[in-house]
Amino acid sequence: MRIVSTMFLAMFLGALTANMAQAQDARERRAGELLSRNLCAECHIVSDAQRGPVLDGVPSFPTLARSKRTNAQLRAWLTDPHPPMPDLPLSEREIASVIAYIRSFSD
Ligand code: HEC
Repeated sequence: MRIVSTMFLAMFLGALTANMAQAQDARERRAGELLSRNLCAECHIVSDAQRGPVLDGVPSFPTLARSKRTNAQLRAWLTDPHPPMPDLPLSEREIASVIAYIRSFSD
């Protein structure tokens, strides 16, 4: 009996932790989406719903997500973007959120 209740407790805690991690991921993506709409949408297509106007030749976020770029490469770019992309004052946390949002297109 004790073993069974311990197992249930372990399963319950496992599910709870997984739920909390999922909620955290969702919050992070949502924060990234808001940042992207505010800071990136003038040049990039940042969602499947956006219809421009944007600059020619600038990769859309869904395209970036499906490209071979790793998270580390995206982070490096966003930490130190090169012209013609402007240098955006993003914090580490904001960069992580934006990357989580970009990744959501290839999940
Ligand atoms: C004023 C226009 C502008 C804004 C605003 C802008 N970008 Fe860019 N971005 C560009 C251009 C232009 C390129 C293409 C640069 C190139 O290919 O040389 C680019 C390229 C990129 C790339 C690809 C880099 C690579 O590996 O080739 C990423 C990722 C990116 N932008 C993310 C973002 C994010 C995230 C934001 C918002 C936080 C943002 N950009 C805001 C113009 C902009």
